Amino acid sequence: MPDKWNPELYERFQAERSRPFYDLVDLVQHQKNLRVLDLGCGTGKLTKYLHETLKAKETLGVDASEKMLYVAHQFAGNGLRFEQGRIEDNPGEGKFDVVFSNAALQWVTGHEALFAKLREKLQPGGQLAIQIPAMYDEPVHQLAVETAKEFSQELGGYVRRLEVLSPVDYATLLYKLGFVKQQVKLQIYGHLLPSREAVVEWYRGTLLTAYETQLNSQNYESFLELYQQKLFEILPDERPFFFPYKRILIWGSIS
Ligand SMILES: C[S@@+](CC[C@H](N)C(=O)[O-])C[C@H]1O[C@@H](n2cnc3c(N)ncnc32)[C@H](O)[C@@H]1O
Repeated sequence: MPDKWNPELYERFQAERSRPFYDLVDLVQHQKNLRVLDLGCGTGKLTKYLHETLKAKETLGVDASEKMLYVAHQFAGNGLRFEQGRIEDNPGEGKFDVVFSNAALQWVTGHEALFAKLREKLQPGGQLAIQIPAMYDEPVHQLAVETAKEFSQELGGYVRRLEVLSPVDYATLLYKLGFVKQQVKLQIYGHLLPSREAVVEWYRGTLLTAYETQLNSQNYESFLELYQQKLFEILPDERPFFFPYKRILIWGSIS
């Protein structure tokens, strides 16, 4: 499948996207000589911050996208390295003190099984720190699903569905997996974007990449047009545009 992640487009909203990342890093307890795994590390800039802030001995950033990793490799060194791999393939050899993932696990289905696998990657005393956007029931997502259904023929019936559990279900899952300490919270990040057009730009950099992969460029342009039209029927034309964004922050420790 072609790699439609676009580091430049993704980084356009870096300030907004990195706020929850810093909040997630703040949940991690500092210990000496940590071995850290960052799943879906993207362009690696934030992985470097994570590595340095935790004063980790070793940090491995893993991402499926060659283009994202191409940017990430410049940050490698001093115990920080990057590898190409898919989260669902259990990347990263051995056990880790911290398994971290910011805004990536929503692309992987079967979270109960996935979290059980991540738990297995932890050393005794290890910590899991995950941030997952929780916008699946908001119009920005629902209208992408509706648009995909209207392009059913061109997409061969494909619809990108994100499987994200509720905060309560994540808390229960952590408990069942033996996390003796935990913090799970739903947080709303109020992003101030220049206009509602920026919401489409935002989603072109993430959710819609899957449709870009499946469609030829002409059909993708028509897809974007229809999506925008649907969205603008409900989003007010205000400048700046206030975009409330729901995210779940999950932290757990096994001792
Ligand atoms: C929204 S970006 C987040 C990047 C980074 N963690 C950050 O906070 O800026 C999601 C990243 O997850 C990667 N990704 C998506 N699905 C993946 C998978 N199944 N396995 C590995 N990486 C994946 C994408 O290539 C992308 O770089």
